[in-house]
Amino acid sequence: MSTLDLNDINMKKGYYYETIITTFNEDNENNAAPIGIAIKSIDEITCRIFKGSKTLENIRLNKKFIVNITRNPLYLTLSTVGNLEDKYFQFHNKDKNYPYLKEVEAYIICEITKIKDIDKNNDPVRKAKAGFIKAKVCEIVKLNKCVNPLNRSIYSLLESLVNYTRIDIVDKDMQNYYLDRLDESERIINKVGSNEEKKAILILKSKLKEKGFEISKKYY
Ligand SMILES: Cc1cc2nc3c(=O)[nH]c(=O)nc-3n(C[C@H](O)[C@H](O)[C@H](O)COP(=O)(O)O)c2cc1C
Repeated sequence: MSTLDLNDINMKKGYYYETIITTFNEDNENNAAPIGIAIKSIDEITCRIFKGSKTLENIRLNKKFIVNITRNPLYLTLSTVGNLEDKYFQFHNKDKNYPYLKEVEAYIICEITKIKDIDKNNDPVRKAKAGFIKAKVCEIVKLNKCVNPLNRSIYSLLESLVNYTRIDIVDKDMQNYYLDRLDESERIINKVGSNEEKKAILILKSKLKEKGFEISKKYY
């Protein structure tokens, strides 16, 4: 099924999702890399891509790219530590200009409307140079009836909840480790989470405070 509305694949305005972007270079070599995208409207997305990555180079060259919605752990890992082999790619309408990944839940064909150089500074990777990309959605191909785009925040919350249930029975070093993890989970949730997830992590923090743990105020 084909659509033009990101809501049809459960991507909501104001939210961030982890995807795999597929592109190709001047020698028609396919490339895949995990990239986070922000949803700006039903048919507009933005992303920030570090300088030096093949994805940014290819997007600058071709002005278009494909966003793949998938939870495939091997796709995510192999495209992070290297590139995916050609056997994992296929082509929208058999056109080599539009590579996407086999068996994904959905894919989005995007065309850039704006690209500018930025210093990415709201991230632990401070002062890194990146390209800021705004793109319009040209077509969405929904391959699964139900599409579940990936968002990091629920996993951060779950890890924090598990650690909460263990914090009274571990030693001091482990407790400090859990509290550091809590800060990092909160950072992620504040960056890419829903209002409910933000509320949930604050509840957890106040419960830990009640128990007598020293809780950082960083994100209050
Ligand atoms: C879940 C996940 C999300 C990522 N999001 C981004 C991102 O938004 N921007 C970015 O520049 N790199 C991001 N990365 C890192 C790139 O995927 C990584 O640098 C990759 O090696 C770039 O590959 P390339 O040179 O083939 O483009 C992310 C990695 C992971 C695992």
